[in-house]
Formats: sequence, C-alpha cells, structure tokens
Amino acid sequence: MAYQVSNFIPWCFVLAVVSITIFTPKVCFANKQSKIESLVKNQIDQCWRFNPEWRKHRSQLATCSVGYAGKMTNNIGKDLIHYKVIDPSDDPINPKIGTLRYGASKVQGKVWITFQRDMHIRLEKPLLISSFTTIDGRGVNVHIADNACLMIFKATDVIIHGLRIHHCRPQAPGMVIGPNGKVMSLGQVDGDAIRLVTTSKIWIDHNTLYDCQDDLLDVTRGSTNVTISNNWFREQNKVMLLGHDDGYMRDKDMKVTVVYNYFGPNCYQRMPRIRHGYAHVANNLYMGWVQYAIGGSMGPSLKSESNLFIAPMSEHKEVTWRKNSDGTEDKWEFYSVGDAFENGAFFIETQGGQVQKPNYNLEQNFKVVDAKCVRSLTMLSGVLRCSKSSIC
Ligand SMILES: *[C@@H]1O[C@H](CO)[C@@H](O)[C@H](O)[C@H]1NC(C)=O
Repeated sequence: MAYQVSNFIPWCFVLAVVSITIFTPKVCFANKQSKIESLVKNQIDQCWRFNPEWRKHRSQLATCSVGYAGKMTNNIGKDLIHYKVIDPSDDPINPKIGTLRYGASKVQGKVWITFQRDMHIRLEKPLLISSFTTIDGRGVNVHIADNACLMIFKATDVIIHGLRIHHCRPQAPGMVIGPNGKVMSLGQVDGDAIRLVTTSKIWIDHNTLYDCQDDLLDVTRGSTNVTISNNWFREQNKVMLLGHDDGYMRDKDMKVTVVYNYFGPNCYQRMPRIRHGYAHVANNLYMGWVQYAIGGSMGPSLKSESNLFIAPMSEHKEVTWRKNSDGTEDKWEFYSVGDAFENGAFFIETQGGQVQKPNYNLEQNFKVVDAKCVRSLTMLSGVLRCSKSSIC
C-alpha cells in the first residue's frame, strides 16, 4: 500500500513555508517565468510535484484533482491493485497479461496502471477503460498512436495521466473486450484521442494530444463531472467537443472544468465547442486559432475566467463562435471574467444576464489566478519530463 497521508504532511508544510517566505508574488512577470513559480501557482501540481518521492507514492496524485471531477479518492485505498504494463502488444479480444488492455479492461476493481519502460503502443481497437482505473505514465515515455485510441464507455472514476496520444484513426465496428472485462461488439468510432461516452468523475491531466483524425477529446452522451487539466493540445483541426449532438438533451446536465491547458500551435477550432451543458474554462493559454477558440450551440453555458487569448496573425481575432442552428435565437450564456487578450483578440459575451458560477463544493474548488500568470502556469502542460533524481 503506497498511500499514507502522514508521509505528505512535511512536504505540504515545506511548500507552505516556501510559498509564504519566497514566492508570494501577487503578480506574475512575463519575462521571469520559472518552473517553481508555475508549480506554486498550479494547485494540482503543487499537491504532488514537490515530493521527490512521488514514485513511491504514486497514488497521492488521486488527491490532487480539482474541478468537477472532485478528488479521485475512489481510485485509491487498501484494495488497490498495482499493475505494470511490460508488453506493448495488443489483442482486442484475448489480451495477454502484461499488456495495457489487460490492465485497463480485464482487471476489475481499483487498478493503478504504470509502465515498465518507454513504450509505443499501437492499439488494434479502441481501449475501453474500466471504472476505478488509473493510467499513470509518469516517469516513462508512453505513446498511444497510429491506430485506435482511448475510450471511456459507461464507466466512472478514471484518471488518465502522462500519455502522448496521437495519430488516432477511425475504427470499423468489431469485437473488443469491454469495461466489464467481457467481450462486446463496438460500433464504428471516429478517430478521437480520448472519447468519453456516458461517464462521470473523469480526470484527464498532463497528457499531450495531437494530430488525430477527429477530435482530440470528446465528452458525450450524458457524461459529467469531468476535469481536463494541464494538457497540451496541438496540431489539430477540431480540438475538444463537449456535448454529443444538438438533439442529445441529457447533456444539459454536463459539467466540465477545463483548466491549465495549453492550446496550440496550430489548433483550428473547438477549444472547446460546447452543446447544452456548462463549462468552467479557467487559466488556459490559447496560442492562436484558425476559426475560433470557444464556441457553442443549443443553449450552452460557459464561464471563461482568467485565460490568456493570443489571437492569430490572420483577421480572425474573435475568440468566440456561436451557432444559430435554424435562425431562431438559441439561448446561450458565454461570459468572460478576468480574461487577458493579446494581438487584437476579443470575446463576444452574452448581452445582459449574469455569469453562472461553477458552484464547486469544497473538494472541487480551486483558486483561479490572475491571467498574467497563465504563461508560467501552462509552461509545463502536457506530459512532464521527470528526471530520475529530482522533482517531476
Ligand atoms: C457529480 O458530482 C456531484 C458532486 O460530487 C454529485 O453530487 C453528483 O451526483 C455527480 N453526478 C454524477 C452523475 O455522478
């Protein structure tokens, strides 16, 4: 059992002292970025990255999430199974012990998956991740690329951390081992890096996602309580879709937090595109876009808070995009609070009305920092390079 609260108290204490005595900057200096500064202000990272013993205490990560996913404490505890991927091969129906698919789909209960070494995994079919599963790529270089990618289908309590997912391609219908460990038939899927279908309590943190045939990340079909944090999205036309389609009314209850992500270079649109539900989009960096950064339809609500929007050189300076499906006035509530704009970027807000607050509970809540800090906050988004000796 790796998780012991008492081991972390000294580090929290050290952090508190360090933050109070040295790093109490109320402002961030654009030219004076440091790894330490980004760590201190990033509420998720500062929870574990100061611990040089993080390898021994991997499950500490589950206590670090914020936003709608809340704390991922259902993923850890006495009955946690530690599973190590030693074999990069894949069999979608009869996965071998030691492969990623065996750990993610076959093993049931709380599973913490790590990787023995650097790996390039080419999945033969989408990987259907079971409830209470954590995939932890810290300390090694794991690529999931060049064919099928990840899917969370009718599952809850999943953490995906530290993976490079790219060149995902559409997949024909076929048989695959499902999240309950039993073979099921799966329909056609688009080439998304990570697709969520009817899921809740999902945390996607510090991944690098790029160059896939559909979206990089889809949150669909009644999925809710999702936190998307510290990821690096780049080289992609359609980046992030929240809400399945215009007719899928269950997505009205969708709640998603998008925080500390880095979008760009070469992201065209959908960062995110939202239908129906509510998104809190805070402290992200937008390094340009082609069509727009944030858009929506079907009466979505969105609070954009303290992001940094850097417009592209082209004439498309508007951050926002709104689809009016059939000419009738859809309700839409898009508000910008404390955002920073560079290079002529501008955000068109809903006229009148009032910004809907995220209404986080205690474990979901986090401090949104000044948009001036976003450059340093997102400097280490995507997969972290963790050296053998020091902090990650
Ligand atoms: C989402 O999270 C909230 C707060 O923890 C919880 O009350 C609610 O039941 C969750 N919704 C779902 C569908 O799991």
